Amino acid sequence: MTTLEILTIKSPVLRQKCRPVTKFDNRLQQLIDDMIETMREAPGVGLAAPQVNETLQLAIIETSIRHSDSPEAIKKLFVIVNPKITRPSQRLVKGIEGCLSIPGYVGEVVRHESIRVYAQNRYGKPIKLQLSGWPARIFQHEIDHLNGTLFIDRLTSPSKLWAREKYYEKKLVDISEL
Ligand code: NI
Repeated sequence: MTTLEILTIKSPVLRQKCRPVTKFDNRLQQLIDDMIETMREAPGVGLAAPQVNETLQLAIIETSIRHSDSPEAIKKLFVIVNPKITRPSQRLVKGIEGCLSIPGYVGEVVRHESIRVYAQNRYGKPIKLQLSGWPARIFQHEIDHLNGTLFIDRLTSPSKLWAREKYYEKKLVDISEL
């Protein structure tokens, strides 16, 4: 596996609309493995293909998920290909986000509290996910990347963007990079 370079805000690639994945071939599997390594090394909880210069509808997410029938949250890796969000909740929630492509900054963003995601897994098999809370936020952030949208486009107000350290000084909250 190889660690890939993560593009930052100035790259026009981050603003492109990604094309659907049609071939679930060895090259795609290699890219996915490299993205997983890159995300973990960063470290981050999500990484979208355009962030590593591939304008494909592909993202990976690693976060703790709690199932309704289990009291314990379990860390889980998701590979989503050609994802679509449906049934966004009317309920919206504010939260603080960072992004591996916007290092050093965090901002306040409104997201749907829950969503359903239809996608394909890394082998092309259809998957359906029901998500809420922090995982739902990460999925919305990563799927935004596939449409050329960054969290700074969705700030609740232009003043709600802070240098990471400044934010930490005020509030002792841990923010993962998305
Ligand atoms: Ni991001």
